Amino acid sequence: MDKEISYTVEGSSLSSDGVGAFRSALSAFTTGVVIVTTLCPEGEKVGLTVNSFSSLSMEPPMVLWCLEKRSQSVPLFAKGRSFTINVLTDQQQHLAQIFSSKNHDRFKDVALAGDPTGAPIIEGCLSWFECGVADVFDGGDHYIITGLVTRFGRRDEKPLIFHDGKYKTS
Ligand SMILES: Cc1cc2nc3c(=O)[nH]c(=O)nc-3n(C[C@H](O)[C@H](O)[C@H](O)COP(=O)(O)O)c2cc1C
Repeated sequence: MDKEISYTVEGSSLSSDGVGAFRSALSAFTTGVVIVTTLCPEGEKVGLTVNSFSSLSMEPPMVLWCLEKRSQSVPLFAKGRSFTINVLTDQQQHLAQIFSSKNHDRFKDVALAGDPTGAPIIEGCLSWFECGVADVFDGGDHYIITGLVTRFGRRDEKPLIFHDGKYKTS
């Protein structure tokens, strides 16, 4: 792509071609890929693919991520609930695809590590952070979820990368 684009947002909403241009400009920012997991009160495991994850604070140790407001799992991420951030390796692209697609038993065939009564930790992840929801903030069509980290770990592997709408490996 060698064409340069620039856009001015009129008011607070984008026209339909503006949406595409905004997505394109955002997708120039390279991220990792995580799966956020939690447990329903009934014990069912829940997880979704997320690339809005970010570090937030060292003292206290905090992270954040953003959840689409129309996601069915919104009630599961209320203040005080537990969740785990699972950072994916370059060998786990299939998990990113499964946990972002509909009509899947997402945890079928996924090996889990750690305490089975807590939010699932996915076996073989690059790093993981067990958290309690500290706050939920409004952020347009998403909620910003901040987490206070209670436990974490990492291993020495290569990350899965997301750039320009595509998965990449380093
Ligand atoms: C690479 C990638 C990154 C994503 N990042 C987010 C995100 O940050 N927040 C979000 O709410 N959905 C994100 N999604 C979309 C969700 O994974 C997807 O909508 C999923 O089906 C939501 O799960 P649910 O249907 O159980 O709510 C992302 C999808 C992909 C493929």
